[in-house]
Amino acid sequence: MKRLWGLSPILAVTLLAACGESAKPPPAPLPITYHRDVAPLVQEKCGSCHVEGGIAPFPLQTYAQTFVMRAAIKAAVQAHIMPPWMPDSECTPYAQDRSLSSEQIDLLTRWVDEGGSEGDASDAPADVPPSSGGLPRVDLELAMPEAYSPRQSPDEYRCFMLDWPQTDMSYVTGFVAKPGRPSIVHHIIAFLIPPDEVANYQALDAKDPELGYTCFGGPGGNASQVAWIGSWAPGSQGTVLPPGTGIQVPPGSKVVLQVHYNLSSANAAPDRTSIALSLASSVDKLAIMQPWTNPAWLQPGGMPIPAGAQDAHHRFSFDLSSALSYVTRGAFPNNVPVTVYGAALHMHTLGSWGKMEIERKTGATECMLRIPHWNFHWQGGYSFEQPKVVKPGDRIAVECHWDNSLPNAKDVEWGEGTSDEMCLGMFLMTQ
Ligand code: HEC
Repeated sequence: MKRLWGLSPILAVTLLAACGESAKPPPAPLPITYHRDVAPLVQEKCGSCHVEGGIAPFPLQTYAQTFVMRAAIKAAVQAHIMPPWMPDSECTPYAQDRSLSSEQIDLLTRWVDEGGSEGDASDAPADVPPSSGGLPRVDLELAMPEAYSPRQSPDEYRCFMLDWPQTDMSYVTGFVAKPGRPSIVHHIIAFLIPPDEVANYQALDAKDPELGYTCFGGPGGNASQVAWIGSWAPGSQGTVLPPGTGIQVPPGSKVVLQVHYNLSSANAAPDRTSIALSLASSVDKLAIMQPWTNPAWLQPGGMPIPAGAQDAHHRFSFDLSSALSYVTRGAFPNNVPVTVYGAALHMHTLGSWGKMEIERKTGATECMLRIPHWNFHWQGGYSFEQPKVVKPGDRIAVECHWDNSLPNAKDVEWGEGTSDEMCLGMFLMTQ
């Protein structure tokens, strides 16, 4: 039912006609109107960003606002630039896919081509679905210690250390970030710093006299040793972990919140972002957000991206089960199957495309995530509609491609800085 009003009226009319007597010619299609057809679609697919005070540069909440932008809307949806949705859904189906179907693109295009009629407000469908998602329960909110106003334009990446107040072992079962100033907060990643790594991050924080410290790719330090608690991008209502599972957080941990500020739609202003978590004191199964990369890439010269290369690429695949105990710091034993619920990919700005796959022991390859046009601004995690089981003998692969052919390009390798690169896969798994 959710999508029905998004279908082209032509299709609806054709379906109805097909049930009637076959002799009658189908009635002429109804003209597309803003209130009946366009507004509900724009509300569902664009509304999380194109609202007053949102991350998008203009709101699309009224007929007048939408009408004046109609040519740009047609161009942006036809070019698949909007809504931002990076994964190729043919790789595997994802939950909360916000991309437009080709019928929906046709509908918006026809509305614009037919002149952008307003129609009658009373035609608005009654059953517009409220935006779904959100955490069932908030048990803990952690905010930046103070407000911070970004100083670099257009982009600043800043890491803030947050104390973890729980004194017993706890498990995160749901995550959402709440940007303090949505017009400048582009994305947020919460990293979990285990107690034995805390001192390294405190040192990074102490070196910078302002609140927090500059960080770009990861939280600084050894990126392959810190797990994600969650990530947030505009439009995300939050992530709820599969029932009965949770990410373990030992007392004495810290959370490093990486906030990407973007000043292209709004001026710098103080922001105090927070995260909200659902917690459990015990779970049936541990969930782990597992970083996945080739440790050799992190070594000097280990991941060369030569100046001038149009398609430099690196691929790594490994039998996860043989390294499970090591990579999970002993939480999972080796040689057991794991269930994988979703995936993410992380490169920096030279990335052009990338993918994650399961190379089955049988020789088959199964797609987890394919980002055909990498865009650093719109990175995030994607939950599979159906979890995938990875068995001993299966290998998980991560592959990244970079275009380093711009004039004055320099040789690039792995690093934390804006002009360095990374190739980091990530997946959420349980045993
Ligand atoms: C996740 C947030 C988000 C969603 C969802 C979204 N937009 Fe955008 N939109 C943006 C941002 C941010 C920009 C500014 C340009 C950029 O950063 O890419 C933008 C820019 C645009 C532009 C100007 C493009 C240009 O050429 O500069 C148009 C038109 C547009 N959006 C239309 C839409 C429509 C129509 C939808 C829904 C079908 C939509 N957007 C959904 C965030 C979003």
